[in-house]
Amino acid sequence: MSEPLVGLEDVVITNSTICFIDGEKGILRYRGYDVHALAEKSTYEETAWLLMYGRLPVASELQAFHEELAKHREVPEGALAILRVIPAKSDAMAWLRTSVSLLSAFDSESEDNSEPANIRKTILLTARLATLVAAIERCRQNLPIIAPDPALDQAANFLYMLTGKKPDELSRRAMDIALILQADHELNASTFAGRVTVSTQSDMYSAVTSAVGTLKGPLHGGANQRVMEMLEAIGTPDQVDGWLKGQLCAKKKIMGFGHRVYTTVDPRAAILKQMSKELSIKVGPAKWYEMSEMLQQAMLKEKNINPNLDFYSATVYRYLNIHTDLFPLIFAMSRVVGWGTHFMEQYRNNRLIRPMTNYVGPQNLRYTPIQERVATPLIP
Ligand SMILES: CC(C)(COP(=O)(O)OP(=O)(O)OC[C@H]1O[C@@H](n2cnc3c(N)ncnc32)[C@H](O)[C@@H]1OP(=O)(O)O)[C@@H](O)C(=O)NCCC(=O)NCCS
Repeated sequence: MSEPLVGLEDVVITNSTICFIDGEKGILRYRGYDVHALAEKSTYEETAWLLMYGRLPVASELQAFHEELAKHREVPEGALAILRVIPAKSDAMAWLRTSVSLLSAFDSESEDNSEPANIRKTILLTARLATLVAAIERCRQNLPIIAPDPALDQAANFLYMLTGKKPDELSRRAMDIALILQADHELNASTFAGRVTVSTQSDMYSAVTSAVGTLKGPLHGGANQRVMEMLEAIGTPDQVDGWLKGQLCAKKKIMGFGHRVYTTVDPRAAILKQMSKELSIKVGPAKWYEMSEMLQQAMLKEKNINPNLDFYSATVYRYLNIHTDLFPLIFAMSRVVGWGTHFMEQYRNNRLIRPMTNYVGPQNLRYTPIQERVATPLIP
C-alpha cells in the first residue's frame, strides 16, 4: 500500500463549477467572479444567488430572492422555545449546531432530497441561520428575541436582530463584505464534511449540521474567535513583539495565520484588512488594528506566514461591537449558502466518499479467555 496522504493535502476528489482558488497567486473566484469585484460591488444576497444559480441575477431575480429570504427568515416559535431552554453558558457554536439540527423538525420537506426541495432548503437555511445566531445571543443575554424586518437585507437584518437598532451604512457594509467573503471556499473542511454526509444520501439538514460541527474547530472557523482572544491577551501594541517571540519559541500556532491552499496573501484577508483599518479610524479603538498589522509584519519576518480570512474578520467584528464567541457563528451563517450549493452539486453527481486507512496494528492475535489475560499498557 502507498504512503497515506495525511490531511488529504493536494487530493482532488471531484470536478466543481462553484469556486476557484489559485493559492500561489492569491486568487479566489466564485462562479468565475473575483472576490475583489464582489466585495466592492455586490451584496451578500446577490453573491448568494450567484453561488446557488451560477450567474449574476437580473434585477427581478434579485428582488424575488430578497423577498424569498425575507419570507423564510423567521424561525418557527416551537424551535425558539427549545432554543430558550439551552443553558446560557453553553458554547455558542454548539448552540448553533443543535439549533440547525432542530430546524429539520420544523420542515415538512426535511427528508426530501430532490433538487427543488434542496434549493428551497438552502434558501431557508441561508435566511434562518442569521436569525438563529441573533436569537442565541438575545437568549443568553436574557433579552427578548427581535423579529426580522422584511425591509432590511441580510447584513442589516442580522445587526438589527442582534442589537434592536438599525445599523448605520458603514456597519451594514462592513458586515455585508464579511458575509460575501465567507460565503464559499471550495473544498474546505466543513464543506468536505457536509459533502461526505450527502454522499451517503443523507439529507441537507444533516449535512449542514456536520458542516457546522466541523467549522467550529479552531483550525477552521473557530479561528476568528481565537484571534480576538489572542489580541485581548496581548493587550497593547508594545507587547506584540515579545508575546509573539514567546509563542514561537514555545512552538505555538498563531491563530489567523497560515493556510492549506494559499502560499501568498489570502485575498479575503487583504480586503478585510482595509475594512478593519477604516473601522479603526471611524469607530476605534485603533489598537486592535494596529496590533493586527504589527503581528502581520512580525509573522512575515519570523515565519514567512501570511494572515488568513479569520485574522482581519476578528477585528472587523470587534469594531461592530459583536461578542467574541459569536464570530464563528457569523462565519456559519454566511457559509451556509456555499454549503448548500456544494451539497446540491454532490447530490447531482454522487458517489459514496469512502477513503481508507493504512492499518499498522497487530494481526492474527489469539482471543484469550478473560481469566488468562494480563493488563498490558493500553494502545493510545
Ligand atoms: C490553517 C492551518 C490549519 C493549515 O494547516 P496545514 O496546511 O496542515 O499546515 P501545518 O499545520 O502542517 O503547518 C505547516 C508549517 O507551518 C507552520 N504553521 C502553519 N500555520 C502556523 C501558524 N498559524 N502559526 C505558526 N506556525 C504555523 C507549522 O508549524 C508547520 O511548520 P513545520 O513544518 O516547521 O512544523 C494552519 O496554518 C493553522 O493551524 N493556522 C492557525 C489556525 C487558523 O488560523 N485557522 C484558520 C484557517 S482559514
